[in-house]
Amino acid sequence: MKLGVNIDHVATVRQARKTFEPDPVTAAAFATLGGADIITVHLREDRRHIQDRDVQLLKETVFTKLNLEMSIAPEIIDIALKIKPEQVTLVPEKRHEVTTEGGLDVVSQKKTLLETVKRFTDSGITVSLFIDPEEGQIAAAKGVRAQCVELHTGNYANAREDDTRYRMIEKLQSGLKVAGKSGLRVNAGHGITYHNVGLLVESLDIEELHIGHSIVSRSVFVGMQQAVSEMKELIFRHSLVKRC
Ligand code: PXP
Repeated sequence: MKLGVNIDHVATVRQARKTFEPDPVTAAAFATLGGADIITVHLREDRRHIQDRDVQLLKETVFTKLNLEMSIAPEIIDIALKIKPEQVTLVPEKRHEVTTEGGLDVVSQKKTLLETVKRFTDSGITVSLFIDPEEGQIAAAKGVRAQCVELHTGNYANAREDDTRYRMIEKLQSGLKVAGKSGLRVNAGHGITYHNVGLLVESLDIEELHIGHSIVSRSVFVGMQQAVSEMKELIFRHSLVKRC
């Protein structure tokens, strides 16, 4: 299971003063030293954290894989097609949300998404759609010819009771099964922390796990390289448990 590290919140700290530090490009280098397999950034329309310059420099310096999270706003699509990250993850975006709130509604935007996915795949960019683990959304993702889906793990992460937590795991498992059967590659992410990553890794065989806030938070105290390597270690240990 690969680890994608979302470094948006390094840029959030920088933008708090609109200065030059801390630089997310430096954070990406330390995350990679810590074992990150993928670097993810979300270029939001309001540019509240990641800036255009960050994406350009990351494209030039990340030697693993750059995953650009983005809405389907025409301006952002044009930037992505120009910069050409290895992968784009299409997400819904609302101006007043604190973070991405729900999955993309692929079902109601099939026509637009079919065109958008084609523009990216024609340019050699892999397209992943961030969706809730619902059969209808998975079928629609296949229908618009995305190569991957990222299953939204927010409801699992937010569960406070074991009952709910296990129900959410079952939902993700059945989403994974349906998506896998239809030939989609399956990633997952949102709200994953050092505390809830274990059960998720033991229960789901996904390709990429995308984590941001929790790793950046820990990096404030232990540094980015160590924060990432501690998460990698957890993923590795829990993957072994799964195999036993
Ligand atoms: N995956 C997607 C599609 C996201 O939008 C985010 C948040 O930017 C993440 C993963 C990471 O979520 P978190 O910061 O809660 O780990």
